[in-house]
Amino acid sequence: KTVVKVANRTFWFALLAGVGSFYYVTKKDRTPGVQLPHDPTKKTIVVLGSGWGATSFLNTLDTTEYNVVVVSPKNFFLFTPLLPSVAVGTLSPRSIIQPTRYVTRHKTRAVEVIEAEAQHVDVANKTVSFIDNSDIQGAVSSTTIPYDYLVYAVGAEVQTFGIPGVTDHACFMKELNDAEKMQRRFLDCLESAAFHGQSQEEIERLLHIVVVGGGPTGVELSGELHDFLEEDLKSWYPELADKIKITLVEALPSVLPMFSKRLIEYTMSTFKESKIDILTQTMVKEVKDKSVTLALPDKSVIEMPCGMVVWAAGNKGRAITQDLMSQLPTAQTNKRGITIDEYMEMKGTNGSIFAIGDCTTSSHAPTAQVASQQGAYLARAFAQRVKRDQLEANVAELERSAAMILHEDERKKVVDELEGAKRQLAKFKIRPFTYSHQGTLAYIGSDKAIADLPFLNGSFASGGFLTFYFWRSAYLSTLFSLRNRTLVATDWVRTKVFGRDVSRE
Ligand code: FAD
Ligand code: NAI
Repeated sequence: KTVVKVANRTFWFALLAGVGSFYYVTKKDRTPGVQLPHDPTKKTIVVLGSGWGATSFLNTLDTTEYNVVVVSPKNFFLFTPLLPSVAVGTLSPRSIIQPTRYVTRHKTRAVEVIEAEAQHVDVANKTVSFIDNSDIQGAVSSTTIPYDYLVYAVGAEVQTFGIPGVTDHACFMKELNDAEKMQRRFLDCLESAAFHGQSQEEIERLLHIVVVGGGPTGVELSGELHDFLEEDLKSWYPELADKIKITLVEALPSVLPMFSKRLIEYTMSTFKESKIDILTQTMVKEVKDKSVTLALPDKSVIEMPCGMVVWAAGNKGRAITQDLMSQLPTAQTNKRGITIDEYMEMKGTNGSIFAIGDCTTSSHAPTAQVASQQGAYLARAFAQRVKRDQLEANVAELERSAAMILHEDERKKVVDELEGAKRQLAKFKIRPFTYSHQGTLAYIGSDKAIADLPFLNGSFASGGFLTFYFWRSAYLSTLFSLRNRTLVATDWVRTKVFGRDVSRE
């Protein structure tokens, strides 16, 4: 009886504490306090971008000693790992984005957030020019501002390799509106296939989805499409569901080259069971309105009819990045991206520009994991920079005093102090960036995920249902806010209980 009583009380106490802390955290998140104003005596950091690198930088940065301005064409952060889930309606678009102001309004000093696209960085004059290219503009829609430090985190854009028809006919899977567009187009294919009197041949074409690129984006999207088909479309389009076909096209001999061989084989066999066709060593040569042209391993070229093509064939640097690099032709020679040192400093810029994430080239893969660690590191390095600046100012002040004091005893005291301050400054080093790999994860559909995790100086490969739950909990905890975690978790429950929506907005 006593045990039941204690358990009962503990339960109610834990529930109350849980609800109370949830209320407290959400209330605190929604009511940011008064911030310090911009201070003209402090240095200004201009941040370009609001993605993984920039948001992680802003989350970690102590703004007390800096004025900060953020410029990005999107006024939000997008949690890219869950983007394919949005494309099939497992998650709502708004569940995986976080307004940048939800971060900046909680900073000690006010951060200016400007929704604009940076067009040009002038390295010599330390300025950035940007324009408001949204639908609605005010009287001022373009301007140039100066910076003391530039944190350059504009990411990358879709690589089309100049292949004909990609831009006109394919969907991408990079931004939030790409996922929304793909969802609309896929449902349009279904409804057009259901149109009265459609021929069998046309139905098969409309229901054939071609995913180009066997990297993690293409694989995860194929898995999500398969789930949509199995869990929802079979109920709402019973006459069409078994005609839906997903083909994944990859130019290399295998998909997911960054995963261990065992997990590649596991993915291939799971896709085989899921009836997702994988065409390896097959190159897409052209995308047309109703077909894709493929170069097969035997060098023959065929035209494959399809209703929709999703292009997930990798990324390349943005035009603004190329423009920036072209101003430093001797220091920036790697065409694949910005060359940085171990402090994230863009080579050739004398410590005024720091670049992080997908716009850079380094020994690390262009992933969210790398970009976010670089962003957090850079914010900590800026805090160290404040300390270094203070030590330098102290040395300069003591040097001035030592030169002015005439009394020998007093001067000796100051000179001793100066020697001490100089030693402290000489010892002061900003720590270089070190990357800590947390593992590589991917969802492959049918409630299965794969994971290559670092383990005792080696790696541990796992795949299946348990890894799927690990994948979900890992991404849930990686989401930047309690709000997003709650929205994503409730979306997962909503999808499990009610299924995905098949209305075409
Ligand atoms: P981004 O996050 O792309 O941010 C770039 C920012 O710059 C954006 O806010 C953009 O609006 C802004 N910007 C663009 N142009 C300008 C301009 N001219 N001026 C100012 N701002 C500009 N990685 C993982 O580690 N794990 C995963 O599971 C994973 N899943 C992914 C799934 C998908 C579908 C995709 C597309 C990518 C995935 N990635 C994953 C890769 C990861 O998203 C990128 O490596 C990461 O976004 C890079 O961060 P970033 O800050 O460099 O760029
Ligand atoms: P990717 O560059 O990793 O893969 C693109 C694939 O498309 C390549 O394998 C390439 O061979 C293939 N390809 C290119 N042109 C082709 C053509 N014409 N025909 C057929 N195939 C063609 O791109 P992805 O998947 O978008 O990933 C980008 C980055 O984001 C990577 O660094 C990746 O690691 C990261 N990412 C990580 C995820 C995860 O960890 N779960 C999920 C998604 C992305």
